[in-house]
Amino acid sequence: MAIANQKGGVGKTTTAINLAAGLTELGGRVLLVDLDPQGNASTGLGIVPGMRKLTTYDLLIDDAALADVIQPTGVDRLFICPSNADLSSADMDMVANEKRSFLLHDALRQPAIDVFSFDFILIDCPPSLSLLTVNALVACHSVLVPLQSEFFALEGLSQLMLTIREVRETANPDLRIEGVLLTMYDGRNNLSQQVENDARQNLGDLVFKTVIPRNVRVSEAPSYALSVLDYDSTSRGSEAYRLLALEISARHGSASSKDKESA
Ligand SMILES: Nc1ncnc2c1ncn2[C@@H]1O[C@H](COP(=O)(O)OP(=O)(O)O)[C@@H](O)[C@H]1O
Ligand SMILES: [Mg+2]
Repeated sequence: MAIANQKGGVGKTTTAINLAAGLTELGGRVLLVDLDPQGNASTGLGIVPGMRKLTTYDLLIDDAALADVIQPTGVDRLFICPSNADLSSADMDMVANEKRSFLLHDALRQPAIDVFSFDFILIDCPPSLSLLTVNALVACHSVLVPLQSEFFALEGLSQLMLTIREVRETANPDLRIEGVLLTMYDGRNNLSQQVENDARQNLGDLVFKTVIPRNVRVSEAPSYALSVLDYDSTSRGSEAYRLLALEISARHGSASSKDKESA
């Protein structure tokens, strides 16, 4: 699942980390692919720069083996492909490659991935519609679009939807929209409510029932290298991300394939 929106600061990385943590709490095994040169998902999960010996860059550009790039995190059942600033030159390094849009697709389908038995792979995209984001859209089954509950939130959406349609018509015909997620929602603010009304009116069922509130615990958690679920388990932010994990795993049958087998 790609987590994408070309706008920065809308809650992509926050959602990647905390949805991943929520899915692991439900028993799922999850891989988070950090596809942003800023490496915020890596930092937020405590993978300090010295621990990023092999990164998503090596996976895409240098044919590194997936199993060598994947690392465990402090969260049980959560693994990460970390990134760093190397990835900022990836677009240029990929452009001459005729398989440039399929590099992540192919990397994530290396047979070595089977031993990890992942139930979900989440891809934290950079804030652009660059070749990196296109790689994520080609590699994934569905895309989750965080939408900050602020004025102009819906404006950038048409460009993203156009890119999704293009990818569908070319490289990934089965690409679905997992849903649009309202983030940083402030119920006391009329604007938040207006954005929610607009989104539900225009996008209908595409909008997740779960809404992520603006919650200071959510923004504090990464500086402790923790998901908000581990940082403050009973905060409103944790509860919301748990509900989102439930909403998503319910659609997919369950968060863990073990449950699916025993069901
Ligand atoms: N629900 C929330 N409540 C409070 N702050 C949030 C929430 N979601 C995200 N933030 C903060 O907003 C900023 C941008 O979020 P981030 O996930 O990094 O966005 P993106 O990855 O889209 O650029 C970060 O400082 C983050 O801590
Ligand atoms: Mg980010």
